[in-house]
Amino acid sequence: VNLKPYNTFGLPAVARRLVRIREELDVRRVVDHPELGRASKFVLGGGSNLVLTRDVDAVVLKMEIPGLQVEERDDAWIIEAGAGVSWHEAVAFSLDQGVPGLENLALIPGTVGAAPVQNIGAYGIEVKDRLENVDVVDLTTGRRVTLPASVCNFGYRDSVFKQTGFGGLAGKSVITKVRLRCPKPWVPQLGYLDLERKMAETGITAPSARQIFDWVCEIRRAKLPDPARIGNAGSFFKNPVVSAEQCRDIIARDPHIVHYPMPDGSFKLAAGWLIDACGWKGKSVGGAAVYDRQALVLVNRGEARGAEVVTLARAIQESVYGRFGIRLEPEPVVI
Ligand code: EPU
Repeated sequence: VNLKPYNTFGLPAVARRLVRIREELDVRRVVDHPELGRASKFVLGGGSNLVLTRDVDAVVLKMEIPGLQVEERDDAWIIEAGAGVSWHEAVAFSLDQGVPGLENLALIPGTVGAAPVQNIGAYGIEVKDRLENVDVVDLTTGRRVTLPASVCNFGYRDSVFKQTGFGGLAGKSVITKVRLRCPKPWVPQLGYLDLERKMAETGITAPSARQIFDWVCEIRRAKLPDPARIGNAGSFFKNPVVSAEQCRDIIARDPHIVHYPMPDGSFKLAAGWLIDACGWKGKSVGGAAVYDRQALVLVNRGEARGAEVVTLARAIQESVYGRFGIRLEPEPVVI
């Protein structure tokens, strides 16, 4: 199976075996299969956090489990969604049902099942802030368990589902269903520069959830390339976290550096700013390029190959390390 249509970067690669998972029982069927059961597995959602540099030997489980439901409780609404539902569709559905709480996470590419894996986040909210629990199926036993958010070991763009080693679930299980919790009463999250700007521009000081949804869509459309038109995987690097001392040193040399204080006294730096400051906007390696409106995003100008994306990423890492002494860590999974 050609994987090019199944990764938003539009990179060429072939999967020898791909199984469409349309219901939870399909996972069990793969696990029980005499041949597929023993093979290693690769779980594929929307392919929006993926850089393919070669063909895939593992059995690809293409997650297509549907379903969207809302349940109202006294203190919250619960949105239940199948792993294969598009994330944005789930956000739009919740608002259509009159449920506020997911609006800051509008227009994030990918599927619902992938959202907890890297703990997607934008404009002041992360999926961990809205997760009730997930259903996961063990890829060895085929057994299903429901994991509450408290055991998912969430961090910035990180979770137990990405972690390897003791206790980590990477490669060991697959998320089949996600329940999101939107608490009552709704409290809008507006503490992000881009949203504050929208409020100032429009004079709207108490926006509805729908208004915030529209703003987030506008902001993202202005800054981030639409993967349907220009291949990309969103932010290519995580925003690095440095100590207060390190941050002071960097500010002394580059007073304009964009930095945010963290609760523990450290600082998060804008990786996009660091890359931009090194002059990378618009630069390319073969078909892979740095997006000209957001230096943190690498794009496919047409016929890029995964190896070109990786070469470009390494060159960026070296140049940022050379100038700032900071190692940037890639965000997408590189195969
Ligand atoms: N900046 C530059 N030059 C650039 C890009 C950014 O100077 O080329 C500066 C901007 O001016 C801004 C700052 O860097 O002051 C931060 O930029 P932005 O608001 O675009 O956010 P970001 O830190 O680059 C993060 C997430 C995004 C998320 C936005 C909004 C990561 C790795 N990325 O980007 O998530 O949408 O914040 O919350 O944390 C993703 O993970 O794929 C993703 C798109």
